[in-house]
This record gives sequence, structure tokens and C-alpha cells, in this order.
Amino acid sequence: MYMKKILCLLYLLSIFCFSHAQNENTYLEQNIDSTLSGMTIREKAGQLNQLDGRGTIENLKILIRKGEIGSVMNVTEPEVVNELQEIACKQSRTGIPLVFTRDVVHGFKTMLPIPLGQAATFHPELIQEGARIAAIEATEHGVKWSFAPMIDISRDARWGRIAESFGEDTYLTEQMAIAVVNGFQGDDLSNPQSMAACAKHFIGYGAVEGGRDYNSTHIPERQLRDVYLPPFEKAVKANCSSIMTSFNDNDGIPATGNKKLLKDILRKEWNFDGVVVSDWGSVTEMIKHGFAEDRKDAARKAIEAGLDMDMSSKAFIQNIEELIAKGIVSEETLNNAVRNVLRLKFRLGLFDNPYTDINKRKETYSDKHLAIAKKIAEESVVLLKNESHTLPLSSEIKSILIVGPLSDAPHDQLGTWTMDGETERTQTPVKALREMYGDKVKIHFVKGLEYSRDKNKTNFNKVLAEAHQADAIIAFIGEEAILSGEAHCLADIKLQGAQSELIKILSGTNKPLITVIMAGRPLIINEEVSLSDAVLYAWHPGTMGGNALADILFGKVTPGGKLPVTFPKATGQIPIYYNHTNTGRPATGKEKPLDEIPLNAKQSVLGHSSYYLDLGAQPLFPFGYGLSYTSFEYSDLKTDRAVLTLKDTLSISVKVKNTGQYKGTEVVQLYVSDLFGSVTRPVKELKGFKKIELSPNEEKMVIFELPLYELGFWNIDMKKEVEPGKFKIRIGTDSQSGPETFFEVK
Ligand code: BGC
Repeated sequence: MYMKKILCLLYLLSIFCFSHAQNENTYLEQNIDSTLSGMTIREKAGQLNQLDGRGTIENLKILIRKGEIGSVMNVTEPEVVNELQEIACKQSRTGIPLVFTRDVVHGFKTMLPIPLGQAATFHPELIQEGARIAAIEATEHGVKWSFAPMIDISRDARWGRIAESFGEDTYLTEQMAIAVVNGFQGDDLSNPQSMAACAKHFIGYGAVEGGRDYNSTHIPERQLRDVYLPPFEKAVKANCSSIMTSFNDNDGIPATGNKKLLKDILRKEWNFDGVVVSDWGSVTEMIKHGFAEDRKDAARKAIEAGLDMDMSSKAFIQNIEELIAKGIVSEETLNNAVRNVLRLKFRLGLFDNPYTDINKRKETYSDKHLAIAKKIAEESVVLLKNESHTLPLSSEIKSILIVGPLSDAPHDQLGTWTMDGETERTQTPVKALREMYGDKVKIHFVKGLEYSRDKNKTNFNKVLAEAHQADAIIAFIGEEAILSGEAHCLADIKLQGAQSELIKILSGTNKPLITVIMAGRPLIINEEVSLSDAVLYAWHPGTMGGNALADILFGKVTPGGKLPVTFPKATGQIPIYYNHTNTGRPATGKEKPLDEIPLNAKQSVLGHSSYYLDLGAQPLFPFGYGLSYTSFEYSDLKTDRAVLTLKDTLSISVKVKNTGQYKGTEVVQLYVSDLFGSVTRPVKELKGFKKIELSPNEEKMVIFELPLYELGFWNIDMKKEVEPGKFKIRIGTDSQSGPETFFEVK
């Protein structure tokens, strides 16, 4: 009886919530319609026009007054934001507020690690906190719409924008996408501290040919749907307010003019009702692509494909009136785009609360924000090697030499897309080590090389002299911020300048050598890894990177980051990623290395498998790899059933034990292999992960609940289905190890 009452109450509550949401929606749509009904065609086109606000704003003011701008980018002084907003609200005929945007990619003032580093945390809850503080700081400065998260699957480290991505894996990227959307937008988009998110770049931009930015992609539909689209779909499900089209053309169609993508998939299949914004100038770049004849044609193609807002090209504002007057574009098409823009402005609460509170710049750089930035930096660091427990530094180490171009590079450690970060705030390793551990060890510091491309070795003698005085050497190498990011691609991802030589001479001293690498991408580091006793990969770790690293080096924090991308042994091994499909002749692991190939060997003596004679088939480090100061043992992998039907959820458990000396975190990773399908399947796919903390000798049962629909893929009939058959599960510390078991789907 009691149970019945509760169920009844829950039912009534759900009806109430549903009808409340419906009422709210109807009210919103009515507001949009009534605003729209009072607008001229030019004013409507104005809402779709997004312009840069850097430099002189006098001309901008005129356009705002005329109602010819809907959104302004890159104004971050709240006083200026309010001045422009006041013109829009009080002096333009429609009074529609502007929405101010910025690329808040990894923090606003308090810089977080670059997104690739954030992905290495495998800790979405923490990344959500990071996005939240970015939103709080950005909104304090008037920014209400961020062009992030960037969720392009990136499998080519030559591409500079891999730094902005969450790496090569679809599932990990999905989790990070949801985290950032939730962090930016909060529970309520109209909260003054919330900011609209923008999932970008739609679609396939990370797969540009040869890793050269802006290039074409050739992603077939199945791969597009299995690998590249899902993070966007998850972002949309998480109520992401906007989507940005990408620069590339896929299979001949530039994203900004791709109707199937923007209308059929995004609007019809996914029910997206937010804003689709172009990338910078990508409307008129369709002319250079050879896809549009001229600016007018570009505007027509874009708006008809389903683009709502034209970022910076001005093609919409210059052409839409004429396109409508001549009946080339229908007014309904224009209205739909304007509706989407107005919907965003209503949802952001801009009609009620258009101004930024200028007395409220209080939380930027707060202790809490700095602590979160430090925590993310700590968790992003990946321990790649730790021979004979070189790390953490023992109490016997009384003096250290700090060396290398990234040891005190406040600008570079902030990484790419650092529009608002301030170098004066950067905690570099030298600064942090001195401040935090200067009383425990004597710190010698010689940079050796001024910057990562520096080839000048004149200081190497001084470096050596100091190295001989020290008990241990910590070398901070890597790449400058400018070497990754947009348009910053490399044909060879080796270490630049004389950095490799620096590591060589340091290893020659026979002192414990700890190499810390700060970079925007995986670099080719085979030799440096083998010459070093310990290696930490720290990406570009942001404002608090130095403090995070200092605590890791001295063991106050145990590193637990995992690689979100496969590390190749040479640039020529790219593309190399863990979840590839198999060939009919996979590598066996028994292939002969180049040096062992007999002279005058006959063609067939080497066998016939898929590998490189000079590099083999394996990467330097696999996806998901990362050590700890402690060690973990996996055992007792079990599933609750061996045979399941499609509607079931599989329960999987594994025991993880801390078998080492330190308390530490471990990312327990679940991989599933679909052993047979109507089309070839990836050799394995990450389907879950859990970050746990264990004290020495502690063990935990880790349980994954895997709904079988998560195993669906786009099959031979281009339907997303789970196909019956045998599956293999592996749970481990990375993508290549751990116990396995099997199950079957009937
Ligand atoms: C980038 C976008 C960015 C936009 C606005 C473009 O060049 O591709 O990711 O959001 O500029 O700054």
C-alpha cells in the first residue's frame, strides 16, 4: 500500500515536471516568435552576424546601433562589454542584447593544462570543475559564450591542434565533452556565472590529411558515425548550446555548407535546437575550396545547409537581404536561423540580465581556482619511466640541478590558446621548486638552452660543471607553446633545437637524470627515455604547472595520469592508434628487426605481416599507459553472466590491489573487442574507466555496468546495432595489459 502511494506520487511528480518543462518551452518559443515578428530582414541578418571586437570599436558601435550585429567576439573588459550592450539594448530599434564570445579553451585567467593534458587525468568530474572555474572567471569579464570544448578525435600528432583535443579515443572524448559542457553551462544557463558551450569542430577536422591544418578529410560515413560524430551527439544530449562547423571539407563537402551534416544529422536525428556557428571566415572560405562561386553563393549555401551564425566573414549581413528579395533563399530559412540565435540569448537570460556586474571580478585567481588548476595539472602528469625508483626524490638528494628550456618558461607552459592567461601568474618549475622545496635541497639552475628551438650549445660546459656538483638532475625539455595549436603543424615531431644533445651530455654524467617534458603533443622521445632514469610527461600544464610538478618530484603527490594518445616511435609511424581495425595479416610480434635481416634474403623469408621493417608494429607507449610510484595488481576478472541478450546490462568486476609502497590513484580501464561483425571491427575499444585511490596493500573490487547497447556500431546496412556474437573483455592499467574474459550476446 505504502509502496503504491510512493509510486503514485512519483508518477504525479514526473507529470508535473514534464508539463512544467513543456510550459517553459512554449513560453520560450512564444517569446522568440514575438521578438522575430517585429524584426526587419536586415535586423534578422544582423542577428546572424558575429564580428571581432578587438581594436577600435567605434565602427562596431554604429553597426550595433543599426541592429546589424548579433554577437561580438573577444571583448573581455566588462566596462566595454556593458557599453556595447547598452547600445544594443537601448539604442538599437529591436533592443536585442548581444552575446559576447571568447575562446575559453583551457581556463580563462587561471590557466588549466591544455585539453590533451586534461584528458590524461581520465577524471571527468575534475575536468568539469575546471570548466566551471573557467566559466566563473570568463563571465566575470563579460564572456557568455565559449568556443569550447574542442572534441575533434585526433590521431595525428603532426596536427598542431591535437593540443586542444582530448586525444584519439571516442569514449574518452565523449566523457570530457560532457564534463566541459556541464562545467561551462552549470545547472542553469541563465545563471550569471554560466556560459554557453560550443562543441567544435563539426566534423572530422582532426583527420586532416598529413596532419596539415585546414586540409581535406576523407572519412567514410561509417567511420564518421562510429568515431567522429559520437562525442558531438553526447555533447548535444548534455544540452550543449552550440556547435561550430569545421574548416575542412570531408569527401568533397566543406562542413559549413554540408546540409546532411547540419540538417539531417544534427537537427533531425539529434533534435539539436541550439546555434550552429561557422568557424572564422569559413563561410567565404568555401569560395577558396571551390565549393561556392562568390560571397553571395557562399552565404546561400551556408544558410541553406543549416548554418545560423556567420563568424567574421560578413557574407550573411552583406547578402541575405538580396537573396531573400530575389526569392533565392526563403524567409523561413532565415527565420529558423534567427530563432536559434534568439533561443540562445533567451536561455542565457540576456534579455532579463544583459549586463556584467563590474564589481564582481572577485573569483578570478581565487585560491580555490588556483587549487583546482594545480589538482588538474597534478593529475595530468604521466609517469613514463621510473627506473630503480628514481622518483620521488629521496631524502638523500641534497642538491639538484634544474636545467632545460622549459624549466622557467612562463609563457610556454601555458600552452596554446592562452588568450587571457597572464605570464606573471605562471608558477614555473624553478620558481615553485625554490619556493616549495628550497629549504630541503640546494637548487642549482642553469637553463642551458634559452628556448626549445635553441641550437646554441655555448652554455653546455656550464651545465656540465653544475651537473657534477648536484646529486640529481631535473631537465625540463619539450616544445614552446607556439609549436602547437592552430596552423602550427610539424612534419617531424622530434625534439627541436639542441635538446636531445642536452639530454645526451646530462646522461653522460651518471647522475640520476629526471626528464620532464612539456609539450602540446606526443613527441618522439625514444632516445631521451632510454637515457633518462625517470621521465614525466607534463604537457603544457598551465598556471600552476610548476607547483604540481614540484609536489610530484618530491613525492607529496603520486602521479597517475594516463596517455590519451598513442606515442609513436617515429613520425613515420603516424597514424598509429590503439583502436584500429585489424588487417588479414596482423603483426605477430615475431618479426625480425632490421639488423637481423640476412643479406641477400629471399623476398618471403620475413613472413607477411603488417609492420615496419625499421620500427616494428608497436608504438613507444600505448594509449592508456602511465606508471605510478606504487604498483597495482589486477585479478579475479569476472562477469555476472557468460551469455546475454541485447537488452541486458553486463556487470563486470575486477580486483585491483596496491602492491607498492605509496598511496596512489589508478585508472582502471575497460576494453571490449567485438570479435566478429558484419563489417570489420576495431581490435578493441575503451568502454569504461574508473579512477580509484588505494593505500599500500589495500584492494578494491571495481565494478563496471555495461549496458549492451553501448556495443552498437554502424553495421553493413548502415544501422547502429549490437550484433550477436562473441566479445572479449580486458581490464587493465593500459590498453595492452590486464586479465581477459569472454562473453556472448545471443
Ligand atoms: C578556430 C576556432 C576558434 C575561432 C575563433 C578559428 O580560427 O579554428 O577554433 O574558435 O578561430 O577564435
